[in-house]
Amino acid sequence: MLCLGIETSCDETGVALVNASGLVAERLASQADIHSLFGGVVPELACREHLRVLPVLFADLLERSGASARDIDVVAVARGPGLLGSLLVGISFAKGLCLATQARLVGVNHLWAHLLAPGLEEEIAFPSLGLLVSGGHTHLSLMRSAVDFELLGRTLDDAAGEAFDKAAKKMNFPYPGGRFLDELGREADPDPSMFPRAYVDNDNLDFSFSGLKTALAQHVDRQGGLVPSVMGQVASLAPERRAHLARVCASFALAVADTLLIKTDRALDRVGGVRSLVVAGGVAANSTVRQAMTGLARRRGLHLVLPRPELCTDNAAMVAHAGMLTAQQGLFHGLDLEAVPRGRIVPPDWKRAG
Ligand code: KG4
Ligand code: ZN
Repeated sequence: MLCLGIETSCDETGVALVNASGLVAERLASQADIHSLFGGVVPELACREHLRVLPVLFADLLERSGASARDIDVVAVARGPGLLGSLLVGISFAKGLCLATQARLVGVNHLWAHLLAPGLEEEIAFPSLGLLVSGGHTHLSLMRSAVDFELLGRTLDDAAGEAFDKAAKKMNFPYPGGRFLDELGREADPDPSMFPRAYVDNDNLDFSFSGLKTALAQHVDRQGGLVPSVMGQVASLAPERRAHLARVCASFALAVADTLLIKTDRALDRVGGVRSLVVAGGVAANSTVRQAMTGLARRRGLHLVLPRPELCTDNAAMVAHAGMLTAQQGLFHGLDLEAVPRGRIVPPDWKRAG
C-alpha cells in the first residue's frame, strides 16, 4: 500500500510517501521566514503560501520517488485541528487527487499524527501514554491503539510551545523562538527557584502556562537591558548579560519541563499498566524536556518513545504514517470530509470500507 501524506495545518507545507516498510520520500517547505516578520503566523499569508507551494512540492516528491500519482492507494491529509484556510488548501488538493486517481481518502487528526510519528522508526507498544507538546496544544492522552485515543488532560490557556514562543518574543528572539531559547539555555545551569511550577497543586491532569509567561516577563522587565536590542543578536550582549539571559532561558525550560513531568507522572499513576510513554510535538525537541522525560521513564521502568527532532515538528511523514495505520484498519473518509479548526474536537468519523 502506498500512502501520500499532506500537511498544511499551520505554517509548514509538507508531502510524504510511505509504504508498509516505512518512509519512501518527503518534501517540506517552512514559512517561518515569512511569519517571523510579524512575530506569529498570519493565517491569510499561510494559506496563500500553501496554495503556491503544495503542487510544486507534490510534483517534486513524485519525481524524487519515481512514483506516479496513479501508484498512490491512499491519500492521507491533516484535517485539523489547525488554521481553517490552511487546512482547506490541503484537503481540497487531497480530494482532487482522489477524484482523479481513485485513491482512497483518510482525514488525519494532526495531534494523533504527532503522537504516532515515532512509530515510523520504532514500534509503539500499546496501550501507551502520549504527551503531545506543540505550539498549539499540550495534551495527555491514553493511546489504546493507533485509532483509539482518550484525552486525559490539556492546557487551560497557553500551550507549552506557545509559552516558549511568548517567552522568546519577550527576549527579542525571532519567531518561533522555542529553539533559540533552548540553544541559549544550554550555556547555563538553571535556577530551579527562578520560575514557578504553575497549576500543579491540584489533583487533575490539566496544565496552565500563562502564569509562567507573566513571571518571565516580570523578571525581564526588572532587569533593564537584559535582552538584545536587535532581534536575535545575543552576540551583541556583554558576557555577563549573556550569561544571565542564558540562565533565564535554562530556568524557564526547567519550569516547563518540571510541570510536564509532574502531570505525566500523575497520569501514569492514574492509567496504570501502560507499556510505553510517547512524547511528541515541537516541544519534544527541547533538550530539557527530553532529559526530564528520559529520567521519568527510567524511574518508572517504561519504554520511552521520543521522535528524533525533525519528526517532532510539523511534517507530512507523520500524517502519511497515521493515515496508513488508519487505512490498514479499513477506515476511510468520503469526499465530504470536513476541516476542523483549532479549538474543536476532531471527530473519529471514518467509515469502514465495504
Ligand atoms: O508541533 P509543532 O511543529 O507545531 C504545532 O503543531 O504547533 O510545534 C511548534 C512549537 C513552537 O512553539 C516551537 O517554538 C516549539 O514547538 N519548539 C521548541 C523547540 N523546537 C520547537 N520549543 C522548545 N525547544 C525547542 N528545541
Ligand atoms: Zn503540529
